[in-house]
Amino acid sequence: MAHKEIDHITGTETTGHAWDGDLKELNTPLPKWWLTIFWITVVWAIGYMAYYPSWVIGDKNYEGYSKWTARADVHKALEDAQARLAPSFAKLQGASLADIRNDADLSRFATKAGKAVFGDNCVACNGTGANGVFNGSGYPSLVDKDWLWGGKLEDIIETIRVGIRSGHDDERLNTMAAYGGEDGQLTAEQIRNVAGFVLSLSGSTLEGADINKGKAVYLDDGGCNACHGDEGKGGTADVPGAPNLTDSIWLFGKGNVVSSITHGRNAVMPAWDKRLTPAQIKAVAVYVHSRGGGQ
Ligand code: HEC
Repeated sequence: MAHKEIDHITGTETTGHAWDGDLKELNTPLPKWWLTIFWITVVWAIGYMAYYPSWVIGDKNYEGYSKWTARADVHKALEDAQARLAPSFAKLQGASLADIRNDADLSRFATKAGKAVFGDNCVACNGTGANGVFNGSGYPSLVDKDWLWGGKLEDIIETIRVGIRSGHDDERLNTMAAYGGEDGQLTAEQIRNVAGFVLSLSGSTLEGADINKGKAVYLDDGGCNACHGDEGKGGTADVPGAPNLTDSIWLFGKGNVVSSITHGRNAVMPAWDKRLTPAQIKAVAVYVHSRGGGQ
């Protein structure tokens, strides 16, 4: 190794290599300020790794002096939010619809909290804004005045709580049987006639249907009036759940009336009493009720 050589012009040590005979490279030391910052970052990094979870050792990782985890942070944030909202939820839980309407703050809280619950749990089937996914999809619009299981706040709360054909002990239950097929109660012709009659109740026609014969099927052979009412206005307090057939609002589509009668319909809405708190159910019911269709 070459001995230390000082460049006499700059007074700086050279690296000792020579190119082209006499071209020498200076070995300029790093500036002090740079070195200081460098060592500070090294010390900082070691401290940081000791304080926070860092090294993976086998299938475990070093937890760090602080035992910090992102998951615990989220739990804490959720707990804080719940604690902050608890008094409002408690107030909502004890309030009647009139109380909520008369209390601007409570009403705002219920609608906002309900909208959040709706957004997290309900939009997939009931659509953003609660107006159904699309007409005739079997997912009802919640903004019109057409209610299968009642549009009062208490009715809506109960429907959300127990669901429809959900298997819950108190489920909302009524069945639209299949009237067609080999074992069906009605012939294809009878079904066409009764479909024509049903459509005529809201001013529509169905080609090849005899409405008078259809009316007879509706009242006698089919016994449709047992659930849909003598005038087709839908379920009653005694037998709820059957749609109004006169309002031109079609849960399963206007073009699918023959199919609805032939194959039957039994749409399901899950029960929410295990997944939402009573106060959350009330909040989301207030939100749905406030969307314009509530009674
Ligand atoms: C035992 C009660 C019951 C009887 C009897 C009954 N229905 Fe229904 N019907 C229902 C229910 C409940 C629904 C809604 C099913 C759902 O929401 O999935 C329905 C749905 C319908 C629909 C679909 C309505 C829409 O908005 O898309 C039509 C059409 C219909 N019924 C016609 C008939 C006709 C015609 C008869 C007689 C042949 C009949 N129903 C007999 C209970 C009944």
